[in-house]
Amino acid sequence: MDVIGFIEKKRDGGAHAPGELEAFVRAFALGKVPEYQAAAWLMAVYFNGLSDEELKEFTLALARSGDTMSFGDELCIVDKHSTGGVGDKITLLLVPLAAACGLSVAKLSGPGLGFTGGTVDKLESIPGFNTHLSSRDFLNQVTRIGCAISGHSADLAPAEGKFYSLRDVTGTVPSMPLICSSIVSKKIAGGADAFVFDVKCGSGAFMRDHESAEALANGLVSLSKSLGKKAAALITDMDQPLGEWVGNAVEVLEAVRVLQGEGPEDVREVAVALAGAMVSLGKGISFDDGCILARRKIDDGSALEKMKELVEAQGGRGDVCENPDSVLKIAPESFVLNAVSGGRVERIEARSIGEGVKRLGGGRMELGESIDLAVGVKLLVKMGCCVKAGTPLLEVRYTNGEKLENSLPYFEKAFSVEDTNCDSSRNGEEGKRSFVLGKVE
Ligand code: URA
Repeated sequence: MDVIGFIEKKRDGGAHAPGELEAFVRAFALGKVPEYQAAAWLMAVYFNGLSDEELKEFTLALARSGDTMSFGDELCIVDKHSTGGVGDKITLLLVPLAAACGLSVAKLSGPGLGFTGGTVDKLESIPGFNTHLSSRDFLNQVTRIGCAISGHSADLAPAEGKFYSLRDVTGTVPSMPLICSSIVSKKIAGGADAFVFDVKCGSGAFMRDHESAEALANGLVSLSKSLGKKAAALITDMDQPLGEWVGNAVEVLEAVRVLQGEGPEDVREVAVALAGAMVSLGKGISFDDGCILARRKIDDGSALEKMKELVEAQGGRGDVCENPDSVLKIAPESFVLNAVSGGRVERIEARSIGEGVKRLGGGRMELGESIDLAVGVKLLVKMGCCVKAGTPLLEVRYTNGEKLENSLPYFEKAFSVEDTNCDSSRNGEEGKRSFVLGKVE
């Protein structure tokens, strides 16, 4: 193909002819288009965008660049995707919760990226849990018990991975058509019939304000629908970390606690809303009825029972669902960060907490590095709480003193306490605000 002409067309704001994008993706995946030309085209798209037809063709070409999963016509498979945040342990409880509501859930997940944690890493902290199922075992398990969670194989949408790495180093990540095609192509390759997107919004998310989160939610839903899938998106709060714990084993602990009816309210609210949206798509009932069903499945213990079935089906210790404290290895050494002055907690920068946990050993500083699953932090206050000088803000669980030292500056700068008159007897009311900020169907 004439790659230079292809790049010039997009540079000058033109539209690619049908078939051209598919040929370009194929040639790039085979190494026949050099990275400098692909990067030039990405930058042209960054400035001039893609039409709806171009976006569809590009997304499908990425999805079909490697293996694709197929579950046949009998099951309606529902998948969920989060745009990533700090303390986002939702998948761990949502997958069994949605399955307990009668859905078939096939969840493909990735490891941590940047300052955000990854579901695969969190699941590694359950002794024996197999995080990488073969395609056959993955399909069989979904058919048998209604759910499975597995790490992406590198053979799924491989061209997407190549483009993503290039975007990462050429300043072309924040482009709406490139983000939408990147996410939706992986979901299409995963073979589900319906997708629910959890678009995180706030200082700890990709999308920092409501307007851009809404634009991404609309883009993801309309692209998925144009490719014949059912889709919905929720916009959820990521102005501060989700829940109390951030780390790996500690997030599994919190997910179990929520299914035991004890965990923090924000995690329960977001999981119920996402399950409601999934049930609504999968069973054709209203979102509100889906949420009612999800709440019931937590309260009657069937979601926890399903989590145990999922863990055991993947070789893990099912008693993590009964005694998570004794099954999970959580670092026993702890350090408590106290407030320097009194006032209202105005901000808890999720990004800074995520960076701190990474330096504590809970995330990767380099590609392929092994991580310390036992470390993590617990937020002892949330935004809006009133504190005095000396009030504990954060409990850090660590295994290495030097890493603790490296991480502390990130934890310290995460908290902004405003010197203002403030009534600590109202701290409990903070939890009453809503963490689901919008919905796109
Ligand atoms: N997540 C993805 O998978 N792709 C993007 O482009 C951005 C976030």
